[in-house]
Amino acid sequence: MTISQQKRNEHACNICAADANELIHVDCASHIYPDGSLGIHGMCFRVLEKEIVALCGPNGSGKSTLIEHLNGLLRPTSGSVTVMGKNIDLSHADIWRDVGVVFQRSDDQLFAPTVLDDVMFGPINMGISVEQARTEAMGALKAVGAENLSDKMPGYLSGGQKRLVCIAGVLAMKPRVIAMDEPTSDLDSLHAEIVENIILNLKKNHGISIVVATHDLDMAARISDRVCIVKDGSIIAEGKPSSIFYDKNLIEMSGLRQPKVVQIYEGITKNLGIVMENYPITADELVKTIAPMIRQN
Ligand SMILES: Nc1ncnc2c1ncn2[C@@H]1O[C@H](COP(=O)(O)OP(=O)(O)OP(=O)(O)O)[C@@H](O)[C@H]1O
Ligand SMILES: [Mg+2]
Repeated sequence: MTISQQKRNEHACNICAADANELIHVDCASHIYPDGSLGIHGMCFRVLEKEIVALCGPNGSGKSTLIEHLNGLLRPTSGSVTVMGKNIDLSHADIWRDVGVVFQRSDDQLFAPTVLDDVMFGPINMGISVEQARTEAMGALKAVGAENLSDKMPGYLSGGQKRLVCIAGVLAMKPRVIAMDEPTSDLDSLHAEIVENIILNLKKNHGISIVVATHDLDMAARISDRVCIVKDGSIIAEGKPSSIFYDKNLIEMSGLRQPKVVQIYEGITKNLGIVMENYPITADELVKTIAPMIRQN
């Protein structure tokens, strides 16, 4: 996308009026990279307390650019980003305490000589003692199933191991919001499930809100409270997984494919000539919905 494609955005967002429970508010933000590429434009997005929100969109749609605005790594060219009620351009120097980001490329995040040093870096930077930082770091590594990697050099880890260590590094700082960019893209199914459970646990037991950019719509359907469809730098639709993922036109027009559960359920109801009344979104819901249909037929 080029600047010539950019729509002008001079007015504050009237789509996403401020919400009392919001932790982050991205208000009509656009970002133009130095080479003139448009990363996001007119982007309106917010993160509420204790929610898991999925960003789903094709390659190049602006998911990573949006995520990098959530903790001030990138600043909007126009529009604004507010975190915990503070405009990040004006006063929020320690925004990283509130919002942690797990990058799409793990190598962008790892830098210390050992895994433990890397995960301890954040807590030490927050001013806690080295001993306490070590305890926090080991706890975070254990939470992602990577405590056995603590003495290894980050550069020698596999792609999936690096990803787990990056997640631990953010977990160790206990932020209010964690944004994860493709957190399961290079994990085997066991570790992808571990990460999925970590995300659910962070919300349930720690009250942390999670933003997940993902191409894995099956995972988004399983874990998210809200799905945002990102296309050409903007959010073109958002809502509960059951309403977004059953909108076949929307999903296909966005260059995506519906989650497997949705495809199966639509196929079965079409095949049996049944009108859809429920909208199962997880495998469990699918089984509970179709078992009575199969018994009747
Ligand atoms: N550093 C950069 N310099 C110039 N253009 C960039 C840069 N980073 C991203 N872009 C451009 O910004 C747009 C959005 O890219 P972004 O990485 O945010 O997409 P994405 O949705 O995360 O894609 P993917 O699913 O492939 O990770 C793309 O057109 C991309 O080429
Ligand atoms: Mg990306």
